[in-house]
Amino acid sequence: MGQQLGDVHGDLLTWFDVRMDIGSIRRWLDWPEDEIGRLETLEAADHFPFALPDGDDLAEICRNLDVPPPAAEEVVAAAPSPERDPEAWWLLERCYAQFRSGNRPPWPAPWVTDEPLTRYFHLYVFLAAVGDVLAKHDARDIPPEITWTTLRDVGLQVAHHQARRGVYGFDGAFWIFNHFQGGLFQLGRLQYELGTAAYDAPGFVTGDPILEMHIPAIGPLTPGSCDASQDEARTFFARHFPETPYRFGTCESWLLDEQLTDVLPESSNIVSFQQRFTHDDAYSSPGDDDIIRFTFGWLPEDLGELPQDTTLQRGIVKKIREGHHWRIRRGWLEI
Ligand SMILES: CC(C)(COP(=O)(O)OP(=O)(O)OC[C@H]1O[C@@H](n2cnc3c(N)ncnc32)[C@H](O)[C@@H]1OP(=O)(O)O)[C@@H](O)C(=O)NCCC(=O)NCCS
Repeated sequence: MGQQLGDVHGDLLTWFDVRMDIGSIRRWLDWPEDEIGRLETLEAADHFPFALPDGDDLAEICRNLDVPPPAAEEVVAAAPSPERDPEAWWLLERCYAQFRSGNRPPWPAPWVTDEPLTRYFHLYVFLAAVGDVLAKHDARDIPPEITWTTLRDVGLQVAHHQARRGVYGFDGAFWIFNHFQGGLFQLGRLQYELGTAAYDAPGFVTGDPILEMHIPAIGPLTPGSCDASQDEARTFFARHFPETPYRFGTCESWLLDEQLTDVLPESSNIVSFQQRFTHDDAYSSPGDDDIIRFTFGWLPEDLGELPQDTTLQRGIVKKIREGHHWRIRRGWLEI
């Protein structure tokens, strides 16, 4: 194993193009020998300089990302370096290269143990990528406040990890990848992502540009906050993506399952959110896992473990006990 000194980036940690024996990486990962091909593919893929901000800058970025303070302390203290953690650094370089090439997770990672470096592993890829997304947004004249508001979803992921598993960590790379690719924005209450329609509907056909809409868990989904968010989206995309002629917003979610009207009152925010959309009657996919995960945070062995404090919580369990199944449904609206 040898290490080669790379560039020095001002106040960034020195990055190394770490040349390592792939066998030692495989042993460090504790992967079986026949998995070595995956590492060889990673080794052969494009490389990009990988660098982590230093301690103070890293702490400030964590604050800007809303990472809960006890977690931020761990993230900064466990930040890897090429000298101390050559295998981890080798893998982070490759994961970052995957990110830069637009290859979405899952990416390889060490087994999660009590060690903070393993609990936050892919978070370090995104911490290294903050400059990339700021630059992408800046090129479109997007105000940094919108970038940071969008990226604060990282902190929510870390907080949810704690709520689900009792310990801080980060396992949201698959989702957060979208934010850091630079095409997903939190505009007020809702998130919007430029995409292309995956199906035909009155008004658009497969392949047309659309805005995918997402609903982060940041408090009540009041009709007023959704109206304001849609207004903001209209102005935002016309200004910053004028070349993209979308007309419709689309949503695919457990929140659009009409069976929710059986258990929630007409006054509920979820019910009024559903009413914004024209529903695709032809589409339905199994939704028990999603509704439970998004509502309770984890999938129980037995329904009896689930708290029954709110109307929604009680309604979800009641329906399943009655032999029904929840669905993921989809719909569209004109923005
Ligand atoms: C979407 C969301 C913001 C709606 O919350 P809301 O605005 O309070 O919704 P409603 O007004 O319709 O709530 C109706 C009832 O359900 C309860 N409820 C709603 N969401 C709940 C949740 N996630 N967990 C527990 N109870 C919930 C409310 O407390 C209320 O019950 P109560 O009158 O007994 O207090 C919330 O469910 C949420 O944060 N979900 C997670 C994010 C998500 O699922 N995104 C979509 C991913 S595809």
